[in-house]
Amino acid sequence: MKQYHILFVCLGNICRSPLAEAILRQLVDAKTTTSQCIVVDSAGLGEWHQGELADPRMRAHAARRGIVITHRARRITDKDFDLFDLIIAMDDSVYQKLQELAPTLGQQKKVIRMADYLEGMPWDHIPDPYYGGASGFELVLDLLSEGCKNLYHRCLRYTGSA
Ligand code: 4NP
Repeated sequence: MKQYHILFVCLGNICRSPLAEAILRQLVDAKTTTSQCIVVDSAGLGEWHQGELADPRMRAHAARRGIVITHRARRITDKDFDLFDLIIAMDDSVYQKLQELAPTLGQQKKVIRMADYLEGMPWDHIPDPYYGGASGFELVLDLLSEGCKNLYHRCLRYTGSA
């Protein structure tokens, strides 16, 4: 069975992208067919938090909604552009940087924006919650729950698991 690899990318890989990874994985793992063919991971542009668990605030807010984040931060590499089929940027600056980092034109085309999946929500990016308060983390949870649900349904169609 062909596997479909999805990588979420943010700046530090300790707030937004590990949350998106955990939410999508929860959806994917709930169904045997998708758990066998959809692989999810996350990475950051920076390496300041390399090897760390997600920000404790992000983990606490996620846990209240039943989402467990176990990812350890890592920086995106050239190999990721080869390995992953879809590389999902949390905001425009991450999107632009990924376009610059992509080794080939074909790999540039794998990069898309998370906001493309926010159907009906008035947000064109996932705002960085790192320097803000609790409401920022709750907003990220709202946006990524909706976005990952829509992304999951598109994956079902792509992988023929619908
Ligand atoms: P993230 O949030 O990109 O959603 O993981 C951030 C985490 C850390 C930093 C910036 C954003 N930082 O500057 O350390």
